[in-house]
Amino acid sequence: MKVGVLTGGGDCPGLNAVIRGVVRKAEREYGDVVVGFLDGWSGLLEDRAMPLDVEACRGLLTRGGTVLGTSRYQPYMFDDGVERVKATMARHFVDALIVIGGEGTLSAASRIYADGVPLVGVPKTIDNDINGTQRTFGFDTAVQTATDAIDRLHTTAESHDRVIVVEVMGRHVGHIATWAGIAGGATIVLVPEVPFDIGAICESLRRRHRRGRFSSIVVVAEGAVPVPGSLTVAEPTIDEYGHARLGGICNVVAEEIEQRTGFETRVTVLGHVQRGGTPSALDRVLSTWYGVAAMRAAHEGDFGTMVAFNNNKVERRRLDECVSTLKYADPDLLEVARTFFP
Ligand code: F6P
Repeated sequence: MKVGVLTGGGDCPGLNAVIRGVVRKAEREYGDVVVGFLDGWSGLLEDRAMPLDVEACRGLLTRGGTVLGTSRYQPYMFDDGVERVKATMARHFVDALIVIGGEGTLSAASRIYADGVPLVGVPKTIDNDINGTQRTFGFDTAVQTATDAIDRLHTTAESHDRVIVVEVMGRHVGHIATWAGIAGGATIVLVPEVPFDIGAICESLRRRHRRGRFSSIVVVAEGAVPVPGSLTVAEPTIDEYGHARLGGICNVVAEEIEQRTGFETRVTVLGHVQRGGTPSALDRVLSTWYGVAAMRAAHEGDFGTMVAFNNNKVERRRLDECVSTLKYADPDLLEVARTFFP
């Protein structure tokens, strides 16, 4: 058979390792052929593709980003999008797609599967917010990157007796903030799931500093929101894909902390540093496992599924069920983080 692969949405560490896993399994075990579509769904909408074989995948295991390119375009942004996707697949004699993406890309995949395109999904995102899987690839690397940064910020905050507010990614969920916050020994962690009370945060910091600690690290997810009516936060701008461009909540939090407590406060936005670079060992294994498993599902014709990592196994879940809601931070783990608040 011939399989098409695409990577959509924001990039993340491990995308290339998934592609490599798909190609290896296809070529060496099944004698199948793989073609890569460029820049997410755009490659299928505009017929832009590249052949993929084992030789082309040399060195991809450790390489960050995606050799196929990515974008946030989706077929349903265009009246004739689905027909264009089907026409491109037919021109390339592609029997099925392997769609590697996050919430937006996989939602489009679920819809286009219902419209007659055979496909298998692979859950990607540093945010780890895809339902049906305990882990998306890229998350572990992002948590490690954020933790390394928090470790470094501790020493400079301590030297200057400062509060540092660190903003991490996580537009709807606080998985990165919670994990990196716990791993990095953050003073306070703010997540989108629980609106924050700036008065209570300042009181906690005062309490800590009264007890003789004069520096603090506050980790805030970019999608964190204040308790309604308690603070004014500027509305985010919306990009051409209808995606809110977040980033900057740390400035509001830091200004309030400094004004209300008098503690000197700085901000650090980790931003896309969390998405770039080589995947961690765990993400290399998970991505490879996902790639191999997705190719197996495609070869067996088990379409409309998503490969998922649960209880230390990669299994298949129904894609439509995985994209119906997001996976939020575990309340138990949030409680663990809160245990260390002052
Ligand atoms: O892929 C998800 C994500 O990492 C979000 O946490 C973040 O808001 C978004 O990507 C930013 O993406 P971009 O700047 O590429 O639009």
